[in-house]
Order: sequence, then C-alpha cells, then structure tokens
Amino acid sequence: MVKIALLGAAGQIGTPLSLLCKASDLFDEISLYDIVHVPGIATDLNHIDTRGRVSGHLPEDSGLKKALSGADVVVVTAGIARKPGMTRDDLFRTNAGIIRDIFTEIAATCPQAMCCVVTNPVNSTLPVATEVLKKAGVFNPTHIFGVTTLDVVRASTFVAHALGDNVDPKDFKVPVIGGHSGATILPLYSQAQPPVKLDDETLATVINRVQFGGDEIVKSKQGAGSATTCMAYAGFRFVKALLAGKRGEPITEEAFVYLPGIPGGKEIAADLGVDYFAVKIQLGKTGATKALPIGKISEDETKLLEVALKDLRANIATGLSFMA
Ligand code: LMR
Repeated sequence: MVKIALLGAAGQIGTPLSLLCKASDLFDEISLYDIVHVPGIATDLNHIDTRGRVSGHLPEDSGLKKALSGADVVVVTAGIARKPGMTRDDLFRTNAGIIRDIFTEIAATCPQAMCCVVTNPVNSTLPVATEVLKKAGVFNPTHIFGVTTLDVVRASTFVAHALGDNVDPKDFKVPVIGGHSGATILPLYSQAQPPVKLDDETLATVINRVQFGGDEIVKSKQGAGSATTCMAYAGFRFVKALLAGKRGEPITEEAFVYLPGIPGGKEIAADLGVDYFAVKIQLGKTGATKALPIGKISEDETKLLEVALKDLRANIATGLSFMA
C-alpha cells in the first residue's frame, strides 16, 4: 500500500501533479488537500480507470490531518506564486507561514513520511520545514527534500535547444547543484554526459537560461503566474525516483537537502560552509542514503559557485530566522 498526500492540490501545480499521480498507477491512495475545490477534483480524478483511490480534504473537520494520515510520501506545492517583477524571495512572508503550519501537522500526523517541498522560495522554505520538524523532535534529514528537479530538467532541455532541433533533451545528463533560485542554481555543464561542446558565449547563455528559467515563464504568462505544468512534471519525476529508491532500485536525483544529516553530506557541508545545498543524492529504501560529492568543476563554475553560496547563505538565514 502506498499513499501520497498532495498539499496544495487545487493549485496550478497541484492539479496536474494529481493527474500524473493518478494516471501513473503507482499509488493505492492519493489524498488531496487544499483550502478550496479539492473534493471536486478528487471526484473528477476518480473517473480515471487506474486503481488508486483519490480523496479530497478541505481545512474543516481536521482535513489536513485526514489527508496526511498514513501518508508515505507528501508533496507540498501550497502557497502563492510569482507575478512579473517579483523574485521568489518576495513569496517568503506568505509561504513561510503556510509551510510552518503544514509541517506542524506533518510532525504530528505522519513524521515518518518522505516530504518534498516545492513551495517557493525553496532555499528558505526547506529550512523552515526542517526547523519545525526539529522542534517537534521528529526531524529525519534523509526524508525531507527541496525539489530542484525542474532545474535538472531545464539543464538538459536548454542545452538540447541550443544544439539544434533534432536533439533530444533526454540524451543529456547535466548535474545541477546549489539551490533553486537565480544565481544559486548552478548547472555543471563541465560534467555533462555526453560532453557538451558549445562556444563560451552560447554556454554562458544556456547557463543563464537555466538559472533564470523561472523568470522566463513568469514573464511569458504576463501576470497569470509561474511554472506549473513543467514543475508538476519535475515534481512527479522526483516522486517516482523516491518510490524507485523505496523499492530498492538504484537511483539518483538532485535535491536541496540538509547535508549534515545524510551520509557523505557532512564533508560536503564542511567544504562549502553551508548546511543546506542541492547535490546529487542516492535514494534507497530509507530515503536519501548518500550525498554524492560535487566532483571536479571548471574554473568558471568555481566562480559561479562562490556567487551561489553567497546568495544561498542569505536565503537559508531568512528561513532560519523566521523560525528563531
Ligand atoms: C520555477 O523555477 O519556474 C519555479 O520555481 C517557479 C518560479 O517562481 O520561478
């Protein structure tokens, strides 16, 4: 029996993510939670001929508790999204409170669940979530992830776009480390497989597009929000990886994590001087089983890493001071 709880399921990421989960046949139970509309969305999804039962829960009658009860995996997409002219940090004031309240209930109801935080700004909301779990005495660093998979998806996609029309993004594996916001997003094209051959100017353009891919969508949507379908796709890819790990299949994905609590992470954290950072994580039956070393990076990437770390330290401090 596998149960997933999707919090924020009536939102523009949550709804397509619910569809992907229901269509996948990977779940016996899918519980949707939001402040509006989810009972109807659940009924709608339940007309799909896959076996997972979908339930919708509103805040009344302990709806959040019911949605979380017995959950193996929780994905949090709840919160507000960016409008043109906003940075992810502008979302913090509203979304930090939402994350705090949700994780307070997670701590009480399903502290053993694997939790995926999509709600922005991830660089700050993940520290909020971990602090809530720490204060409740149920923090398991191998079970909580800031979802950065969209950056990895973009890194493959945008290099394929730069290389030509007939190039399949799936042919490229590009590690992306750091965080999930602007300069904190660091695609490591020097480690791309197969190796990427682009002139310096084109490569710099591709890196910038990965770092600011979110802004590209915000601008294009002209006030109607930010990434939704590609974020749902990426979030679902991460959930699938978690489940594959749980089944004992060898799999890695990048994620923004609390490094000191994951085998191999302490050394990386000491090296970088930050506790929260996105690296490639080995996933297993017990969640994150290993943080993989960053490896050799180019001179240009080293410079970008310094910039990323500076921004990231500030973002992490914002999250921690909210909970202090
Ligand atoms: C993204 O990367 O597209 C998302 O984090 C949404 C945003 O605000 O940019």
